[in-house]
Amino acid sequence: MRAIQVTEYVKGPMDLRVVTLPTPVPSPTDYLIEIHSAGTNFFDILQIQGKYQHQPALPWIGGAEFAGTVLAVPSSLRTPLRFAVGDRVFGATQGAYATHILAPEQALLPIPAGWTFEDAAGLFVTAPTSYGALVHRANVQAGEWVLVHAAAGGVGLAAVQIAKAKGAMVIATAGTQRKRQIARQFGADYVVDYRDKSWPEQVKQLCAQHRAGNGKAGVDIVYDPVGLIETSLKCVAWNARLLVIGFAAGEIEKVALNRVLLKNVSLVGLHWGQYARFEKETVKSVWAGIFDLVAQGKFRGTAFKDEAFVGLESVPRALQALGGRETWGKVVVKVVDHENDTSKSKL
Ligand SMILES: NC(=O)c1ccc[n+]([C@@H]2O[C@H](COP(=O)([O-])OP(=O)(O)OC[C@H]3O[C@@H](n4cnc5c(N)ncnc54)[C@H](OP(=O)(O)O)[C@@H]3O)[C@@H](O)[C@H]2O)c1
Repeated sequence: MRAIQVTEYVKGPMDLRVVTLPTPVPSPTDYLIEIHSAGTNFFDILQIQGKYQHQPALPWIGGAEFAGTVLAVPSSLRTPLRFAVGDRVFGATQGAYATHILAPEQALLPIPAGWTFEDAAGLFVTAPTSYGALVHRANVQAGEWVLVHAAAGGVGLAAVQIAKAKGAMVIATAGTQRKRQIARQFGADYVVDYRDKSWPEQVKQLCAQHRAGNGKAGVDIVYDPVGLIETSLKCVAWNARLLVIGFAAGEIEKVALNRVLLKNVSLVGLHWGQYARFEKETVKSVWAGIFDLVAQGKFRGTAFKDEAFVGLESVPRALQALGGRETWGKVVVKVVDHENDTSKSKL
């Protein structure tokens, strides 16, 4: 197989190289999958530099998210198998920047009907993070107003779609005109440039103009993958829930708790990766909810389309673009350029 193997930590993505390695053999416990597309994540960039919280012993293959086809099923699992040879699956486990990967059943899900490998490769992390946060943690209700920060990013575009599907109004923030345009295309009702320091005032104005009662003061839910909780407290309504999703801006915020009290709001964290450990039943219901939205046509893939990344050789450039904040949605690398990817014709 071909893969991006890390034998020593590198300065950045452009130092990565594709090598040829033995293709994994079918395993007693794992599925052998031929990868068609790999999703990129910011933590891939940290990992190749040795700066991520999860660093396997060297050497290892980079990448975590993928979509592909089952080539072989586990030979010794006793429970009925969920997938068969030829099934189209997506999932996440270490080593996605490769033509082949071994993955356990719990790391795999079936690609929704009509979805391309490209779109499915970016689904495993973003969709459940946003669904878990908005639906299970913030209990979003129809008619509520949701402020989604970095709305054109991976988790942001998922959050916009889920909030809209649940009947909420969405104010989306993003740093460029193109990204705000994308947020609108995915359903945002209003867009705000949060590089303009007056953005909390703009959010308040929108609420004052279009909402009634306590809602005139601001939004009911803030979805924050950036690190903007403190500033967002300026534009929230009574009983608001502020979702702490991430710190893409690079700094872990400190929040003055008196404002949490005075505004009568809740700060709510979400650590999606730990649900598989502490709350397995919620993982199931979150995915059931997402597949339901997909079936209703209310949730679509968010693969970045402004530049194509084809072949494993394009992983360095894809990661460079992701790290440089040049992209929107999910940056996906087409590992195998199948001209006869029949899923496309169904779209
Ligand atoms: N809590 C969880 O369980 C969970 C799960 C998944 C991801 N996350 C976290 O959520 C965050 C976003 O993930 P993602 O996959 O959506 O990432 P992404 O696709 O790279 O999007 C991040 C967005 O953040 C904005 N941003 C603001 N300041 C930035 C900066 N200094 N550098 C880079 N981007 C900046 C950018 O939008 P603009 O250019 O429009 O500002 C960018 O589009 C990450 O911190 C990630 O670790 C958390």
